Amino acid sequence: MSIAVHASQITKGFGKGAARTMALKGASLDAPLGELQLIVGPSGCGKTTLLSIVAGTLIPDEGTVEVLGEILTTLSQSKVTAFRRRNIGFIFQQFNLIPTLNLIENTSVPLLLNGISRHRAERAAEAMLDQVGLSGRGRHYPRQLSGGQQQRVAIARALVHNPRLVICDEPTSALDRETGHQVMNLLKDVARAPDRSVIVVTHDPRVYDFADRIAEMEDGRVLSNQPASHGQPPAVTG
Ligand SMILES: Nc1ncnc2c1ncn2[C@@H]1O[C@H](COP(=O)(O)OP(=O)(O)OP(=O)(O)O)[C@@H](O)[C@H]1O
Ligand SMILES: [Mg+2]
Repeated sequence: MSIAVHASQITKGFGKGAARTMALKGASLDAPLGELQLIVGPSGCGKTTLLSIVAGTLIPDEGTVEVLGEILTTLSQSKVTAFRRRNIGFIFQQFNLIPTLNLIENTSVPLLLNGISRHRAERAAEAMLDQVGLSGRGRHYPRQLSGGQQQRVAIARALVHNPRLVICDEPTSALDRETGHQVMNLLKDVARAPDRSVIVVTHDPRVYDFADRIAEMEDGRVLSNQPASHGQPPAVTG
């Protein structure tokens, strides 16, 4: 199997009656294994909604979603949750760190959810925090960090359990040039493995150089999904 994600004709609306917004209007996306897939498009076009559906945290109104050979749209919610914990790392646009946990504890969460002992989980979390340039900060709390540092904790937490699919919503938005580069190299390393895949939503043109494929979204649909031609930014940007 060479497809990481096969999402077909996804629709999703929020709200009721006159206030109803159709965030996705038949969006389809195929993301291969062993690649870094970029998704670009203007603000409000449905990128975060599509990522949440692929990650199994949001249920679509219509359409099918297959991730790493599992058809999520036919599984029970508890099976989807178990699948997600094992196989998916998610970097949220708003970081979603837990304020009452220190950085090591925040980063350990995916391992603890997978039944790893606290001691082993915290050692792995510390090693992962080193990799995102936060050595020695493990006992600090999210409120003591800058936005860019919080974002790097979110990245460490998404990667710590070696998920086969890493889904990133604006992973470099708060990062300076050098740190952004370092984070993209980490994500690129994950995507180089033949049985793993990384999907990145971004407005950051610096990320385009790392992409293997670029999908362009507009108004709830994926308009195109092509191999990246480096040096040429896609036509649709936010
Ligand atoms: N929970 C929600 N309740 C109501 N409307 C929502 C909800 N989530 C998203 N929407 C609406 O759905 C549309 C798509 O939102 P989404 O967050 O997917 O856009 P996006 O492409 O990620 O935008 P951005 O680049 O600004 O992050 C928007 O019109 C948004 O207002
Ligand atoms: Mg978004």
